[in-house]
Amino acid sequence: MDALATPAVKLLGSRYPIIQTAMGWVSTSQLVIASSRAGAFGFLACAVMSPQEAEREMRKVLDAVDAPFGVNFHGFQPGAERIVDLVIDHGVKAVSYGRAPSPKLIAKLKAAGVLCVPTIGAGKHARKAVALGADLLVCQGGEGGGHTGVTPTLLLLAEALDAVQVPIIAAGGFRDGRGLAAALAFGAAGIAMGTRFMLTTDSPTPTATKQRYLAAEVNNIPVSTKLDGLPQRMVMNETLARLERTGRLAMLARGLWNGWRFRAATGASLPAFAKSAWAMTRGGGLSLPQALMAANAPMIIKRSMVEGKPAEGVLPSGQVAGLIDDLPSCDELVSRIVANAKERIGAF
Ligand SMILES: Cc1cc2nc3c(=O)[nH]c(=O)nc-3n(C[C@H](O)[C@H](O)[C@H](O)COP(=O)(O)O)c2cc1C
Repeated sequence: MDALATPAVKLLGSRYPIIQTAMGWVSTSQLVIASSRAGAFGFLACAVMSPQEAEREMRKVLDAVDAPFGVNFHGFQPGAERIVDLVIDHGVKAVSYGRAPSPKLIAKLKAAGVLCVPTIGAGKHARKAVALGADLLVCQGGEGGGHTGVTPTLLLLAEALDAVQVPIIAAGGFRDGRGLAAALAFGAAGIAMGTRFMLTTDSPTPTATKQRYLAAEVNNIPVSTKLDGLPQRMVMNETLARLERTGRLAMLARGLWNGWRFRAATGASLPAFAKSAWAMTRGGGLSLPQALMAANAPMIIKRSMVEGKPAEGVLPSGQVAGLIDDLPSCDELVSRIVANAKERIGAF
């Protein structure tokens, strides 16, 4: 029996039960092409793209590889409806999303046969996500990168496996074949990794920024609410230390200004911007001050993740960065994870 031929592989159509997750400004077509060629299932980070950019990126992946891939979006981003239409029109295999999925958009995607793969960070959300239409569930434990909860990966996995019947993918803290073997033995149908895929030669993250991640230590990648009002795990650096010292009023003022600039960059009209801010406060469960801080975040993240100035921006990261010290290609990474997992599974 092939232990890696899990229900997730059957549903997603990838070679291996390994998902390359969506990471804003990291999971571009370049990374998705490389990860899906390697046999993983890649998600494009369209939640930070305009619909035009998302379409260009989808086309690049479709032109380059035969393998299936997915698109990540937020129900409240400007142009979410258009991105959903593009996903359907281009025959994209799956979508991923986090907070506040719009039931209307999910119903539309499901009617078109697109697989729905939401991420949850707390056990109490498992049943609701499935009731809303999840075909697979990614459970991201607190050690995971970017926005994250407090429940550790193994506890979250146990809660979700007890609560729902759909295949569950474990996320948060994975980097190797031992982790994949352990997740499968636990009852998961695969693993999803963000930080590990960012730290490959195929990700577009600038080299100077990757070096800061490689130097990070497990106990210096804390969770902070100071970037956008929601708990987010990031490598401690000069900017995060400064944000931690910043008062609420100064953050709100900066949020307003930068949110306005982000609106211009995404090409959203004023009504679309207002609608998206409103959706974030209502559907996204954010207060208005939090929504303003969230609008501020992209400018700060892009400093490090796009412009290559790791001290001037923040470094969203899983704690696993503290255990990563190399930059393989996606192909090398996936091959060694698969070989190592098979070895571990065979050892029983
Ligand atoms: C740099 C970075 C950016 C991220 N951006 C997003 C994002 O735009 N949307 C999203 O749903 N998750 C985002 N995440 C979370 C990841 O998709 C993934 O769930 C998480 O990294 C898994 O934990 P790991 O890093 O321990 O593998 C991000 C994570 C990182 C490290």
